[in-house]
Amino acid sequence: MEKDILIQEINRLRKEKNAVILAHYYQEKDIQDIADFVGDSLELSKKAAATSADMIVFAGVHFMAETAKILNPEKTVVLPDLNAGCSLADGCKAEDFIKWKAQYPGHKVVTYINCSADIKTLSDVVCTSSNAKKIIESFPQDQPILFAPDRNLGKYLQNETNRDLVLWDGSCIVHEAFSLDKLIALYKEYPKAKIVAHPESETQILKVAHYIGSTSGMLNYIVSSDAEIFIVATEAGILHKLAQDAPGKTLIPAPAYEDNTCACSECAFMKLNTLEKLYRCMKYGYPEIKVSEETRLKALVPIQRMLELS
Ligand code: 13P
Ligand code: SF4
Repeated sequence: MEKDILIQEINRLRKEKNAVILAHYYQEKDIQDIADFVGDSLELSKKAAATSADMIVFAGVHFMAETAKILNPEKTVVLPDLNAGCSLADGCKAEDFIKWKAQYPGHKVVTYINCSADIKTLSDVVCTSSNAKKIIESFPQDQPILFAPDRNLGKYLQNETNRDLVLWDGSCIVHEAFSLDKLIALYKEYPKAKIVAHPESETQILKVAHYIGSTSGMLNYIVSSDAEIFIVATEAGILHKLAQDAPGKTLIPAPAYEDNTCACSECAFMKLNTLEKLYRCMKYGYPEIKVSEETRLKALVPIQRMLELS
């Protein structure tokens, strides 16, 4: 189907089905442009919690749509491509997590929202990159804490909060692919540039960053900064919104290792969603996200704790 017809049809279905389209910044630009709201993981969860729509079309990855379903059991939540996973969520299986957790009695469990509903049921509180520091600091300084599944975000939080967190060994395939040598070479070409990085990036990248934050945090920093040139160490999809919100600024994607399976800084999972698939999932109400009521009720507790603390 032609793009303009697809957009017309999506708009028609949006009214007919009383649907809201929520998109993450890492979605392709056509999807961002037709979305009702584009945001970071925390903002998207808040929008999902507050919506009065009957259908939530989640243009993001599975754990995001699943979180929306946990918050809205009575609504239809659809994801354009059910295979849109996440290396962090996929690398943290409940059976392994249960064994890991059992080794650390007396520890509270803080999990990054990039994990499955099953992992959330085993957590005390969920966090996103924009509220993780606040969530960790909500516990007494001497409270032992397990943090999963992102070890890079965990190391960053250890440093920021001056706490010795026990870390699960997971990572994001996109953010671990940035090359420090290439980044330094690029910075030498643009010495006036500010380097902005997502905390899922490795410690060596974060050490040279001028600003570290969630996708919305990076966007706000760039829009409000007096600097003109930015090297952006996160998934390249955010450059679309950045170009719209910070016109005239020079935005350079941080370079990735050439020999990495992900030689560009694109998330293959996020990019599985297309405008065509989005139209189809609205039309057929499929693929639909389902969560058993038992799992949902348990997973809801740490998500609600996060929303209360945010
Ligand atoms: P935020 O948008 O919360 O910064 O998360 C980035 C990410 O990797 C989502 O998968
Ligand atoms: Fe997961 Fe990384 Fe893709 Fe985000 S960018 S969905 S953390 S693999």
